[in-house]
Amino acid sequence: MESLDKQNALRMITLFSGAVKGIAFYPASHPAIHQPMVELYKILTSAFSRADQIAWGLIDGIMFYDDHLFFEPSTAISDLTNRMLEKDVGRIIMTADVSFEEMQNFIRLFSNKGISFDVLATQLLQEGILHIHLVRQGAESFDEQDDQNDDVKDDRVGTYNKALAAIRSVCRDIERGRIPNSAPVLRIVDRMVSMTMQEPTTLMGLTMIKDYDNYTFNHCVNVGVLAMALGASLGLDADTVRDLGIAGQLHDIGKTMVPKEILNKPGKLSSDEFEQMKRHPELGSKIIREMKGLAPHIAQIVLGHHLHYNRSGYPQWARKLPFNQMVDIIATADTYDAITTLRCYQHPVNPKTALNEMRKLTGTVLDGALMGQFVEMMGDYPVGTVVRLDTNEVAVVYRPNPLENEAPVVRILIDENGERLPVPREQSLVDHDGSRYASIVAVVDPFLKNLDIGRLVSSGNFY
Ligand SMILES: [Fe+2]
Ligand SMILES: [Fe+2]
Repeated sequence: MESLDKQNALRMITLFSGAVKGIAFYPASHPAIHQPMVELYKILTSAFSRADQIAWGLIDGIMFYDDHLFFEPSTAISDLTNRMLEKDVGRIIMTADVSFEEMQNFIRLFSNKGISFDVLATQLLQEGILHIHLVRQGAESFDEQDDQNDDVKDDRVGTYNKALAAIRSVCRDIERGRIPNSAPVLRIVDRMVSMTMQEPTTLMGLTMIKDYDNYTFNHCVNVGVLAMALGASLGLDADTVRDLGIAGQLHDIGKTMVPKEILNKPGKLSSDEFEQMKRHPELGSKIIREMKGLAPHIAQIVLGHHLHYNRSGYPQWARKLPFNQMVDIIATADTYDAITTLRCYQHPVNPKTALNEMRKLTGTVLDGALMGQFVEMMGDYPVGTVVRLDTNEVAVVYRPNPLENEAPVVRILIDENGERLPVPREQSLVDHDGSRYASIVAVVDPFLKNLDIGRLVSSGNFY
């Protein structure tokens, strides 16, 4: 059965094209734009009562909607055609469950002139728009597009962004009072497991991304990445590493139910506010128990992530319950990301200081044996450390070298003359054949060099 007849398909495309044009002139709440969007969403809803997925776009320059072709273009169709050509978008695919908000945000992003296909596709993921996909001109399908990209480029940033989008959609569902869909998180964790099992620290450079505005989302993904890396470096099997990834990514989702004023309060929390904050592990584990496809022990790990190694933490009622080692792995990753994030906005210092502070917590908050492994995995120069080389260049450590601690893979930020490179350059300090590029002579304070490491990593220039 067709999702829309030709007349409604044309109406849908006309409304979409009009909304894309109109959003540049009116705020989304203005009736001149809001009303057509409501009508558009109504047509989409009726289409999704008959199909799980709809697509529209261009075939040989002709606009189509599913099986309908529009040979005689109206102004609205010509406008949309030009915008799609400009962005190299061949097809827009929407899947059932697309929300009004997603549609509205997509229209806003799509209306931006002069942005490339890749930028737009990344923005969709960053804004958690999961039910709208774009296919590039000439590509057969979204899946094929995705696979091609995987083959040709380092997809670590893409993976990180997809993980962010997944956790964002989970939190959005919670805010709307829905039981979150676990599928996007499970899908992306599966991908991260295969990358991590090949080389435990492969994704670790990404945990340098500390976005203050999206702290909770970045923190969740970072804890997932760090916990998986620690699990893999301990020699745990792929299923356990997968569980660590899932639990890490979901460990703080209970915070979605803590009032925003408390979460974002800059000063010290009152005892009543702290009591509310302390409920996030049990709130999170309760939501996880209701989500499909998650094993009960994931909920248990989330429940216990603030219990501390000596079980003196919260929730108090759970102190005597049995917990496995995964709880302490998550706690180690959680503490590291929290300390390095905090420092990032106060006075960024080298991650080694974070490790030293964590050492003081062993035996009480953290498990000493796990901490030993964590320090070993991080190496002498943990990822994110800014260093001066004997070539006089300044670089940031990007990947540890398990064979030679002193010679990690770095990204060179400042050349030998003190000039900032427009695009950081990746450099192995020692090559496979043993030839040496340079040695580290000192750790540099990024604050003095005015280097915002988090921003450099997330700028895309970095990778
Ligand atoms: Fe937490
Ligand atoms: Fe946390």
